[in-house]
Amino acid sequence: MCGIIGIASKKGALRKPLGEVIREALKRLEYRGYDSVGFAVVNELGVLFIRKSKGKIDDVQAKLAFNEFDGVSGVGHTRWATHGPPSDVNAHPHTDCSGRVAVAHNGIIENYASIREWLAGRGHRFVSETDTEVIPHLIEEFKRGGAGPYEAFKAAVARLKGAFAIVAVDADAPGYVFFARNTSPLVLGFGEGANFVASDIPAFLPYTNRVMVLRDWEVGYLTPDEVVVEELMPGEDGVEANRVSLRVRVIEWTPQMAMKGGYPHYMIKEIHEQPQAIAATLAGLPDQVGAVAEALKHADKVVLIGAGTSYHASFLGALALTNIAGLLAVPVIASEARWYLRGLREGDVVIAVSQSGETIDTLLAVREARKRGALTIAVSNVVDSAIPRESDMSIYTRAGPEIGVAATKTFTAQVVTLAYLAARAGNDARVIEALKELPDLAEAVIVESEPLARALAKVMAEKQSAFYLGRGPAYPVAMEGALKLKEVSYLHAEAYPAGESKHGPIALVEEGFPVVFTALSREDGGALVSNVEEMAARGAWRIAVAPRTLEEVLGRADVRFPMPPTSPWAAAALYVIPHQLLAYYTAVFRGYDPDKPRNLAKTVTVV
Ligand code: M6R
Repeated sequence: MCGIIGIASKKGALRKPLGEVIREALKRLEYRGYDSVGFAVVNELGVLFIRKSKGKIDDVQAKLAFNEFDGVSGVGHTRWATHGPPSDVNAHPHTDCSGRVAVAHNGIIENYASIREWLAGRGHRFVSETDTEVIPHLIEEFKRGGAGPYEAFKAAVARLKGAFAIVAVDADAPGYVFFARNTSPLVLGFGEGANFVASDIPAFLPYTNRVMVLRDWEVGYLTPDEVVVEELMPGEDGVEANRVSLRVRVIEWTPQMAMKGGYPHYMIKEIHEQPQAIAATLAGLPDQVGAVAEALKHADKVVLIGAGTSYHASFLGALALTNIAGLLAVPVIASEARWYLRGLREGDVVIAVSQSGETIDTLLAVREARKRGALTIAVSNVVDSAIPRESDMSIYTRAGPEIGVAATKTFTAQVVTLAYLAARAGNDARVIEALKELPDLAEAVIVESEPLARALAKVMAEKQSAFYLGRGPAYPVAMEGALKLKEVSYLHAEAYPAGESKHGPIALVEEGFPVVFTALSREDGGALVSNVEEMAARGAWRIAVAPRTLEEVLGRADVRFPMPPTSPWAAAALYVIPHQLLAYYTAVFRGYDPDKPRNLAKTVTVV
């Protein structure tokens, strides 16, 4: 939901004009939104420049001429529209009447309408349809009342309700960037002669890996040499803010991890990174999982919550906990969770799965579960993000930064983590042994399935619709395959439990209709044979991803991905790979950018 960056830099410290550094940072944040882009730079003389436009960075960079603007403080924004359609005027940063304050914002200001009305009554003129525009005008209003730039910024933030991450520059404070966070993510980066604040770490990773994740209602400012963070406590008689000590931590991510490294897209790079992502995640689990597995053994009910791909991982996790550890575990879609959480009580466990750790629906579910006395456990890829921070216990996957909007390596890392957790809770050493083989097997699967997936994608690219069928743990893998295809290639794809297909969906099947079957083992694959037959009888074009020993399924398919046989709980992380590759190449053949699917943003921080 929008990417924001703020930088305060000594002249020359970044060896490039500030505008260029902002453009590069926005490029690394573009996965968060890409319908408009803009930046503001303040030079040492206190002159503020703003450039912004509708469109993706690459398409509008010549028009915006980032490199021509140097200065000592600046902010940038790449937008995923919420209030007001994508347009030049709705693009951020937004400014006040005097044009001396520029603000970029991620989130939603819930009380913007009343603030706007109040400000309009005091003579402020608004030009955009955004909620954000009230912020620079509020700052201006408090400055008119005599407050200095930072005091005015804090007073403005204290008036806001909703979810926000805000960065601002002020021509009256050259070299300063102001920031504030509530709910929407914001991270500080501590550099040499320059300091940073951004929606996500990759934005400033080429300059520093010393970071601090901001918490709700923290505000502050950066200069090139100083970072100040305060906790804001809006009160009846004005704003109180207490200084917070800096929680700086060094993260292991390298700048290369946030670059394409020779691949044409992040999505394919991240598919190829899965063997390392799984190996690194597995290496980190023994130290993290012990207490969580113990807690699970005493759980009355277990609810796993996630959105999108993380819901599919939750689904697999629920099946693993039920079938390996003998627990009653159910998966719930995060945005629907409130309808289920009312049944929670002490003794129950909620596992919240979210690669970003910031998905608002999942975060709200964690808060609700805690209120009801359940033990909450987060599974996330981002250290110190909101969901782990607000949960009782956390497990981190170690997939490295995922930039492609379509989740790939974070999914396999989540699946491995949840299977490992189930194996520890159920004392199943065989599953753990099978998981340990995954990095090598994943490498082999990528090498063997990529040429076939590419060839298959050429044909798939001409189709309009596809079914994905599987049974048991193969069903969530099928769901993930269908989601990948639809989100990056814009083909209609639907997953069903295979046994359900003849209760309606099969009516759509005719000659050449693609049906992608997944089987992870003989247990779920045996019963799939009749479904393959039924589809064959109606002329479906049959694609099968199944263990190479499951000839009954593979032999009945037109296109076969024979896979290494292993435990189904390990296979889930492996057998999804051909699906990811098929989706990626189908998008490419259809001429779409798989890293930036239309209408989507990497992290959904608004309900
Ligand atoms: O950061 P999260 O794992 O909580 O994100 C959840 C979903 O928004 C995410 O998985 C989304 O469905 C992806 N686009 C899937 O590729």
